[in-house]
Amino acid sequence: MKHFVSVDNLDETKVLELIKRAQYFKNGGQINLNRAVYCVNMFFEDSTRTHTSFEMAERKLGLNVLSFDPKQSSVNKGETLYDTLLTMDALGVDLAVIRHAENEYYQELITPSADKTLDIGILNGGDGSGQHPSQCLLDLLTIYEEFGKFAGLKIAIVGDITNSRVAKSNMELLHRLGAKLFFSGPKYWYSEAFERYGEYRPLDELVAEIDVLMLLRVQHERHQGDQNELVFSPTKYHQEFGLTKERYQKLKADAIIMHPGPINRDVEFASELVESKKSRFKAQMQNGVFMRMAMLEQVLKGRGLGGENK
Ligand code: CP
Repeated sequence: MKHFVSVDNLDETKVLELIKRAQYFKNGGQINLNRAVYCVNMFFEDSTRTHTSFEMAERKLGLNVLSFDPKQSSVNKGETLYDTLLTMDALGVDLAVIRHAENEYYQELITPSADKTLDIGILNGGDGSGQHPSQCLLDLLTIYEEFGKFAGLKIAIVGDITNSRVAKSNMELLHRLGAKLFFSGPKYWYSEAFERYGEYRPLDELVAEIDVLMLLRVQHERHQGDQNELVFSPTKYHQEFGLTKERYQKLKADAIIMHPGPINRDVEFASELVESKKSRFKAQMQNGVFMRMAMLEQVLKGRGLGGENK
């Protein structure tokens, strides 16, 4: 593929191919590059995991990684995102990993046009409340390593669903792969639009029957103007919608807990459970590097830049 911006066109065959490639990289596999490849990571929204993990993946693949700090760029002089990417393209950059606050910011960068010459591979590191394909795929790798399948698994997505791009990508792809999805958390951060993917249920009804508990971060930075933010109580949220010690005890013996990070400790996730036996928080971050290598390989292949096993 020429770009990797969403999970929209991924089917089970493609997901399993990406998982196999991520496992190849996890086992130390390497690929050939056809020439020197240049990559830039452009994060217009804050990130620790996705940014560093993509950079680690790029370096492990042998790409040349350019730094870009939006706060010290000509974006501050009013340069558009398109012109910023046109500049990268002109300089000889092959791939750009972008995180941006605007949903579907990537459309104007990947849609061919007779009067435009921009040709740079775009990987989406998260767009507003839209999609987060690399987080979704590393989550799927983590689930697959545990259960070896997706169909029939009972998965609860819990928390600030409306504002979560992780939730959007995961509900879309896991539903397509046959998982049975449930939603829980505050009704004010839930939308009827999610009903096509799964059923809303109180968390206490769900904990004893699910295979995967997927906790979401409360995204305070996206709550401007939200009346619920004004009265938000971390303690109350934790008691009503968080993973407490009591709920942990009720989980099935082989159930796992996931969180995309960053965690609001003692809000979504009791601090003492973050590294507990059932938690896969660290495994998710470890898997992120290898799944991002697999995603980068897809775009390298799509652009004739490399991709055969070494
Ligand atoms: N999960 C995730 O996207 O984390 P960062 O915001 O730290 O990249």
